[in-house]
Amino acid sequence: MVGARTYTAGMKAAERRLFAPGDGALPPALAGREQEQAALSLCLSDLAGGHSPPHNVVLIGPRGNGKTVLLNWFERACRESATRLEVAAITSADVPDRSALLAELAPPTGIARLLPRKVGVAALASAEWAAIGTPQSLARRLIARCRRHPLAVLLDEAHTLDLDVGQLLLNASQQVRAKAPFLLVLAGTPGLLAHLGKMNASFWDRLGSGLLGIGRLSDAAAREALVEPLAGEGVDIDADALDAVIEHSQRYAYFVQLWGEALWNRRLATGETRLTATLAAAALPAVAARVTEYYQHRYRELEAGGLLPAAVAVAPAFQAGMDATATDRDVDAALAATGMDAAGRLAAREELNRLGYIWCPPGQLPPVVWSAGIPSLMQYVLDQAAPSTPDRDRGKSGAPTAR
Ligand SMILES: Nc1ncnc2c1ncn2[C@@H]1O[C@H](COP(=O)(O)OP(=O)(O)OP(=O)(O)O)[C@@H](O)[C@H]1O
Ligand SMILES: [Mg+2]
Repeated sequence: MVGARTYTAGMKAAERRLFAPGDGALPPALAGREQEQAALSLCLSDLAGGHSPPHNVVLIGPRGNGKTVLLNWFERACRESATRLEVAAITSADVPDRSALLAELAPPTGIARLLPRKVGVAALASAEWAAIGTPQSLARRLIARCRRHPLAVLLDEAHTLDLDVGQLLLNASQQVRAKAPFLLVLAGTPGLLAHLGKMNASFWDRLGSGLLGIGRLSDAAAREALVEPLAGEGVDIDADALDAVIEHSQRYAYFVQLWGEALWNRRLATGETRLTATLAAAALPAVAARVTEYYQHRYRELEAGGLLPAAVAVAPAFQAGMDATATDRDVDAALAATGMDAAGRLAAREELNRLGYIWCPPGQLPPVVWSAGIPSLMQYVLDQAAPSTPDRDRGKSGAPTAR
């Protein structure tokens, strides 16, 4: 009755999800973000000590690398702090205009308290909002709030923040930080810095150690992200299987979680506590289907933005391996081959950066270089854009294969 026992054990374990492929879900091992966690923890101790950190914090990185996860981790750390801190965790969609920002961070207590509950702040006449929706009034209210308890405002998807709202928030944040314990953490895709630059607020380019780049995981971190949770369940993975999985995942956090889920499912299906290369190969189709689906979305996004020629042109500059880099000059030369003029090349590079197709991590020593957002996405783009060949038409999916 071995089969029946395995089945029962599998059913029990299946009730529990181990990995977390998705959107902002805390992974079972938050690997490779020690430096970022340390920087955020330092800000937390400043706040807990009753001071504002010397700078705000901006997390930037291509999609799917773990910005929201880090924000969620920090929110939890603030809530678990021994000192009473307040946290406002919001996204740009929560604050489409100035009045929404005020309602989220500093509702006008005096007037609002007099209004019937159901009507609330939404019923305030627009003239009244206009009067209170100034940087000074937001700052005043926030200073009063922060003097009661230190406040951390965590704003996700900040690259889509309304410019007017952003300007109000950034200006108020400068005033508040000088008077009471306050921290603003913004997270967004690499276009965030250019977006902040449009807000007529000057703090963002003096972030110092507060500008944190969230890119693909290091080799050690990607391995840890898989091995540690599996080991916690008594499951080992063979070295050759792990090598193939890491290579296929490209050390991209979302793909690492997809792999973790697929391997965990193999473990559940077979009852094996040792994951071999054969088991990893059996898990490949499930992962490859998700990965290909993801590439398709990204490909269509490039296509819709008129960026395919630029994406195809720069891809060969990053073919030397997973960590291949290219200088500004290399990228520009690759784009020049498409016949774009200088302004077009600059705009194309910025758009590819905004979409995370290429990525320039902050905090580099010279020479500053670009990396591939996801190297295998570049290969997919090259494959898709290549003229049709019999080989390709025989069913090559464009998805990488585990080697
Ligand atoms: N340090 C990490 N170690 C392992 N897995 C991680 C890590 N960080 C994030 N992940 C996983 O990666 C995936 C994407 O994370 P998250 O949604 O936080 O990315 P993001 O950068 O916020 O993406 P987006 O820009 O699309 O919002 C999730 O499945 C998450 O569990
Ligand atoms: Mg996110």
